Amino acid sequence: MHVAADMAKVSSNPRLSERVSQLLSNMHLHEKIGQLCQVSGCEGHVSEHLAQQVRDGWVGSVINEVDGPTVNYLQHIAKQESRLGIPLLIGRDVIHGFKTIFPIPLGQAASWNAELVEQAARIAALEANSVGVNWTFAPMIDISRDPRWGRIAESLGEDPYLCSILGAAMVDGFQGTDMSESGQIAACAKHFAGYGATESGRDYGTTNIPENELRNIYLPPFKMASDSGAATFMSSFSDLNGVPASGNRWLMKKILREEWGFKGFVVSDWESIYQLEIHGLTENSRDSAQKAFNAGLDMEMVSTTYREHLEELLETKQVDIAQVDHSVGLILSVKEQLGLFDKDCQSPDTADAFYQQESLDVAKQIATQSCVLLKNHNQTLPINAQETQHIALIGPLADDGFEQLGTWIFDGEPQHSVTIRSALESACPSSVNITYDRAMATTRSYTTDLYSQALASANQADVIVMCVGEEAILSGEAHCRADIDLPGSQMELIEKMAELGKPIVLVVLAGRPLTLEPIIEKVDSVLYAWHPGTMAGPAIADLLLGEAVPSGKLPVTFPRKVGQIPLYYNQKNSGKPATNDQYIHMNDIPPRSPQTSLGMAAIHLDTHFSPLFEFGFGLSYSQFTYSQLMLSQHHISRSETLEVAVTVHNTGDWDADEVVQLYIRDLVASATRPVKELKQFSRVHVKRGEHKKVIFSLNINDLSFYNDEMQWTAETGHFHLWVGGSSATTLQQGFELING
Ligand code: BGC
Repeated sequence: MHVAADMAKVSSNPRLSERVSQLLSNMHLHEKIGQLCQVSGCEGHVSEHLAQQVRDGWVGSVINEVDGPTVNYLQHIAKQESRLGIPLLIGRDVIHGFKTIFPIPLGQAASWNAELVEQAARIAALEANSVGVNWTFAPMIDISRDPRWGRIAESLGEDPYLCSILGAAMVDGFQGTDMSESGQIAACAKHFAGYGATESGRDYGTTNIPENELRNIYLPPFKMASDSGAATFMSSFSDLNGVPASGNRWLMKKILREEWGFKGFVVSDWESIYQLEIHGLTENSRDSAQKAFNAGLDMEMVSTTYREHLEELLETKQVDIAQVDHSVGLILSVKEQLGLFDKDCQSPDTADAFYQQESLDVAKQIATQSCVLLKNHNQTLPINAQETQHIALIGPLADDGFEQLGTWIFDGEPQHSVTIRSALESACPSSVNITYDRAMATTRSYTTDLYSQALASANQADVIVMCVGEEAILSGEAHCRADIDLPGSQMELIEKMAELGKPIVLVVLAGRPLTLEPIIEKVDSVLYAWHPGTMAGPAIADLLLGEAVPSGKLPVTFPRKVGQIPLYYNQKNSGKPATNDQYIHMNDIPPRSPQTSLGMAAIHLDTHFSPLFEFGFGLSYSQFTYSQLMLSQHHISRSETLEVAVTVHNTGDWDADEVVQLYIRDLVASATRPVKELKQFSRVHVKRGEHKKVIFSLNINDLSFYNDEMQWTAETGHFHLWVGGSSATTLQQGFELING
């Protein structure tokens, strides 16, 4: 799959169906404007005001109404009681599941398994659609390089390629091949664009992204979503290079429509049109409506500037009716593709759709594959249940069905969660004594009253399993942190446990990479589980006991210290790259050293320049070695395909999955290129003692990028190519792209 294409102008004027054209020609102006307005639902009832608005044709979409009978009633009013009978889009943030909750998207990304990600989205759509939701505000495909940013939890990580592939998988899962089929809903690629680059990782902040960086790093997942047929896009809250995204004509018209030929419609973020005034882009809400609408923003979420001002803006010719017709046509077309004109109202009987066994199985499978084994000293994991008498299960997240679900679970139900404690208790034979001590009321507590009891239990155990991390509320929208160490007194708890001298397994549940450096040497094993969702318990119990083998890989770099951020694998080389030879820590600098003796390289004096764990990293209970990296040729022309073969040998004792990753570097280019770029990956299963040959093929698109003149092109010259189990792989070959 290619994540970007050429810049040729493409038409985004959809061919309207007979029905949509007919409707458009019969619509009154206020009914057209109504289609551009999304209003908030009343959560479980329909106010007379809302009913009348729908009846009068002033509403195109309702957000946040998930009560089946209420949705039915709203659709009934829209279809039977309004003049033209136009159905409503019912929007909801179904981000990582509706009732059955899958891992947070960042966790799903750690599975590097597009098929499972697609299945999870399909199940989320099925459950949501059973109450009449027909539009989700997902996938969130903002490249996220800053773990302080709370919304990194909702993202697919730092890499344009991985994010593109998994974002497209989500679009496919939500929409299927035919959105009108029952159980499919419209997707929304968000937040267009650059939201993840918010300064200092503070939500809603300013973003300044040079165009070359925007095109090469931040836009590819959106291009892929557009190519995959995402029905809608959402504009971002953020100010991009001085022009807030929701009023940014260059983004929405030039890039999205002209260059990419996007056929769906664009919705604002929550009141983001109204906020253009607060940004200082517009003087008042009339100005905001004009700016946003003329920039290409089709539907307004919740604020009412379109409703209040579009009519007047048309009269004064500051907005063109043809543009209004265009936007309405796009919105009606999505409604038609969803089959809303022809479908009956949904049945309020939802019982069958929720928590189906297959859904729980997928939730368990993806949670299992999303856990990343970061450390396994002395093979402390897996725990051999036959030879273990006592497991001390400790920590605030070991038995908390709510926190394991993570952020953005409007419709999740913690009573359906299976916790680590309950799953471990059912999975272990009765000969194993499992004691459980929460030890802390929450992950943020500083009280240590419960420590002595927990330490006493731990002191009797063969192995200590500590479930620590962050509660769900510490990540997600507007939940950013300046310090990303384990919160509260969890580090102190770990230190005290370490003094017992027992093997310690740390299971970390969190919405972001945490800085684990202060405790990493104090524990034996670390299983990073993110917020794994409904089936966290069974997934983690299987991994702890060796019923499953860890296979997740980091979709984002783990820094040692917060001061290293932003830290990402696909960085530029710079003119003075850091190397181990030049690295010096400030404690080792002799007093009064001459200025030039400090290596003169891109380093911090108080921490090593490398991450604690690199992008793509993740251990297994087995071991994999890579060999025989072979290229079909060492000179390729633009029309040729480069075949890459590698042998992956499972030299350990477990049948296991490995995510094989292929990276390249374009050594010399008109605009500098990253030191490594992920281009392909493949999750393979290799039995112990066996090997598998994995084959990739690269073509000209895989070697292309936006050059110094913003043209999508591949430049001739030398490339490095690596294959391996993480971005730190050193198994390398070279090739040259030649003309012809
Ligand atoms: C978020 C969006 C979300 C919308 C609707 C906003 O605050 O930024 O991602 O889809 O609310 O809930």
